[in-house]
Amino acid sequence: MCGIVGIVGTNPVAMQVVDALKRLEYRGYDSAGVATLENGHLTRLRAEGKLRNLELKLSQAPLTGAIGIGHTRWATHGRPNETNAHPHATDKLAVVHNGIIENFRPLKAELTAKGVVFETETDTEVVAQLVTDELRQGKTPMEAVAATLPRLRGAFALAFLFEGEENQLIGARHGAPLAVGYGEGEMYLGSDAPALSPFTDEVSYLEDGDWAVLTRDGVEIRDAGGHPVDRPRQTIPQGQFTANKGNHRHFMAKEIYEQPEVVARTIAHYVDFAEGRMRPLDLPVSFAALTRLSITACGGSYYAALVAKYWFEKLARLPVEIDVASEFRYREAPLEAGQLALFVSQSGETADTLASLHYAKAQGQHVVSVVNVPGSTMARDSAVVTPTLAGPEISVASTKATTCQYAVLLCLAILAGRQRGTLSLDDERRLVAALATVPGTMSDALKLEDMIEPYAREIARAHDVLYMGRGTSYPVALEGALKLKELSYIHAEGYAAGEFKHGPIALIDETVPVIVIAPHDAVFEKTVSNMQEVAARGGRILLITDALGSQEAAMDTMGTIVMPDCDPVVAPIVYAVAVQLLAYHTAVFMGKDVDQPRNLAKSVTVE
Ligand code: G6P
Repeated sequence: MCGIVGIVGTNPVAMQVVDALKRLEYRGYDSAGVATLENGHLTRLRAEGKLRNLELKLSQAPLTGAIGIGHTRWATHGRPNETNAHPHATDKLAVVHNGIIENFRPLKAELTAKGVVFETETDTEVVAQLVTDELRQGKTPMEAVAATLPRLRGAFALAFLFEGEENQLIGARHGAPLAVGYGEGEMYLGSDAPALSPFTDEVSYLEDGDWAVLTRDGVEIRDAGGHPVDRPRQTIPQGQFTANKGNHRHFMAKEIYEQPEVVARTIAHYVDFAEGRMRPLDLPVSFAALTRLSITACGGSYYAALVAKYWFEKLARLPVEIDVASEFRYREAPLEAGQLALFVSQSGETADTLASLHYAKAQGQHVVSVVNVPGSTMARDSAVVTPTLAGPEISVASTKATTCQYAVLLCLAILAGRQRGTLSLDDERRLVAALATVPGTMSDALKLEDMIEPYAREIARAHDVLYMGRGTSYPVALEGALKLKELSYIHAEGYAAGEFKHGPIALIDETVPVIVIAPHDAVFEKTVSNMQEVAARGGRILLITDALGSQEAAMDTMGTIVMPDCDPVVAPIVYAVAVQLLAYHTAVFMGKDVDQPRNLAKSVTVE
């Protein structure tokens, strides 16, 4: 993963590099580093941990070069210590890298046999050493990079800074994103365009196999074959990045509270409330023409896909196959040409999801993606994007992007139902009316925060927490468990309520809280039976339900959170708020790093 930056500037660039890295910290925060050239000589500074540690070091010992590269790391190869921090350097160059060099072992063996001594445990160091080896043979930096790139396997983006080359940076993209930014007498490289937004709003995106030579006068981009190519310059909208927590303690809290607004905005993009109808969408194929739909995603986005499976199958009678992208991409799933493949991603850069998208495309699928970041690789590689309009999400644990995904997927399922004739106009109007209530109901759910917080204190004492739900509440249970474990590091699992008796129930004792997600819907009584089975074995139950559900099934164990009433079809969007708040307050109470949990990153650009 990791974020990379390069600047050919006019003044000392180190703090500019750090500024850009701050916008890339969502890609990892295990260590950070910067290298510049001072009087033609490489100087670098690196620090373990978050960017602020590097900033502190830079304030004590500033780097003064007007050309530089920087890196924020999510460790793949080698522990997250200072030695393994990027930039990696030889006496001839420094390099920063995002991604994985899959064939680094044979390359390292080859170089070791030549007498090269490696200092780090990283795969990146082989790149530094390979290019150095070419330079020692008399090649120019461009020739050396051109000779090295075809030898590297894997998905990566690289930026090189060369000893003595005050006016040249080289960047390369192979399966991991890299943008070139255009300034006044300055040029930039960044893992994404928002990272460069303090300096420029003019960017071009490198394509796979491209490599770019940046000088103060501009950029020359070549494709994998070495032929000069033009990559169109685009203007990126300003305000894509707002590092502002408002009145909240954490970005996550701010983003939880933004949900009524951004979900409303997202729904309004798909629904014509004046008509009480869905807006028509220009999809590459009608849902009516499909015999099946595949949906692929990772992490929380996969759980959104799982909710969508219930919606599409019930409302549109469309069989849905869903998979986590890391499995789908290698499963060689047979896909009938002409069907629709849907991809769900907040970042639009998740490596496994992207690879799955490319596989589906090659299999003749129409590719549509539900993406939050406009201009992301996934957005650009899809026939159509059905956007989530959550705005930039900074907290690593996704909240508002997830509920916006739910909203978009429900809208698509309703549209599919209409196109396939499984929903009547009246059904559509009823569902639109249910969608219209979502922002208000989410606001009401947020008002339960003070009531949820004391439960979080209890959860904080547990070593294991189980979540259960049925139907669309099952993915919400999975999402709740994921949120809790990633934020608080408490072991948590989500199960389909009916599966509890097939194993998880063996874990039940009075120390294991069981959180039951059960709106009063068609499967409520079934879930309650499973809950009773847990209670009968001494389990401590926190029931999350509505007024009717609480009347019928509240138990005197741990407690009941009474959610605002809503149509069961939209319940996942509303109940997501409760599991978010529970996880958030547990982590806050435990003093954890809520916005940047250990070992995680927001955008996972390695497989
Ligand atoms: C990471 C993030 C998760 C996210 C997953 C998929 O693991 O920490 O929050 O759900 O990637 O990311 P995507 O950007 O594709 O939704």
